[in-house]
Amino acid sequence: MFYDLARRFMFRKDAEWAHEFALDNLRRFSGTPLSLAWSQTITDKPVNFLGLELKNPVGLAAGLDKNAECIDAFAQMGFGFIEVGTVTPRPQAGNDKPRIFRLPEADAIINRMGFNNKGVDNLINNVKASKYKGILGINIGKNKDTPNEQGKDDYIHCMRKVFEHASYITVNISSPNTPGLRDLQYGEALDDLLESLKSEQMDLTAKHQKNVPMLVKIAPDIDAVQVAQIAESLLKNRIDGVIATNTTLEREAVKGLRFADEAGGLSGHPVREKSTHVVSELKRITEGKLPIIGVGGIDDARSAKEKLSAGASLVQVYTGFIYKGPRVVKEIVESL
Ligand SMILES: Cc1cc2nc3c(=O)[nH]c(=O)nc-3n(C[C@H](O)[C@H](O)[C@H](O)COP(=O)(O)O)c2cc1C
Repeated sequence: MFYDLARRFMFRKDAEWAHEFALDNLRRFSGTPLSLAWSQTITDKPVNFLGLELKNPVGLAAGLDKNAECIDAFAQMGFGFIEVGTVTPRPQAGNDKPRIFRLPEADAIINRMGFNNKGVDNLINNVKASKYKGILGINIGKNKDTPNEQGKDDYIHCMRKVFEHASYITVNISSPNTPGLRDLQYGEALDDLLESLKSEQMDLTAKHQKNVPMLVKIAPDIDAVQVAQIAESLLKNRIDGVIATNTTLEREAVKGLRFADEAGGLSGHPVREKSTHVVSELKRITEGKLPIIGVGGIDDARSAKEKLSAGASLVQVYTGFIYKGPRVVKEIVESL
């Protein structure tokens, strides 16, 4: 009810303005009685994933709270886990505005944000300042002006900084909005990156006496051969899990709609099937050996169950949350 009113107001405004407005208010009012507007109690559906104890398997996907400014408010909405970021070593402005577009006829969004964020040090300060004690994923990336050959250093820099503060770390190599980033998903570049990150993870585990699983987030725009190659590299390098998927570059499902030709990644309903397909391929190829978080077009119980049946152990939502608000979390969790 509250969200329906808020949405009516926000959907009349520019998408990024609405996003900032919402985050501002979540941050400002999360410790006050106004937080009752979004707080909800959801029956626990406990699940263990990679040794982490979650109160339910429905998480907030990366990119909504890039700087970890609203963790407490998202926790009050009942998410079983929260992923913040993508964060880069240095702050960066991202692409020129406008860079987020709503396609309401398709329950979709196109974005080309380009990892706008305030840098990893700022994110850590925000994590430290939050009261949240639940499962927190921190999603890391590389700065736009770091050449791919040195991309590894950016990921390692972020990993060292966030290790102590994260329940798990996501290595994002699948955003379509950082030129060349997706090239890291293939061949030697992938192997090389994963080998270094695994070795860093092991050093940090020994140093901090703490296990922090590392997951890799991949794109939906890959064919069966590429899924197999990525899966092989993830297994070979003993990566703990995979998040499938990020946004798609394909536009088939939104052809003719307003904003459909904007550059960027398409999310929401139109990416659902593609993401689910990648999840089932990963499950099949790895014979279930690689734990999977499914994301892409989840906006109700049915679409969540589709990802879980395809092989995901957990799910995340982004676009479905923008369209439906906190009730999408409750609706899914209570259906499980
Ligand atoms: C505006 C916007 C910004 C995003 N930013 C990030 C990001 O910084 N890092 C990331 O890994 N994924 C990012 N994503 C991708 C989402 O986390 C998710 O993988 C994708 O949108 C598919 O899920 P959905 O259909 O539920 O939105 C972003 C998505 C949107 C719509």
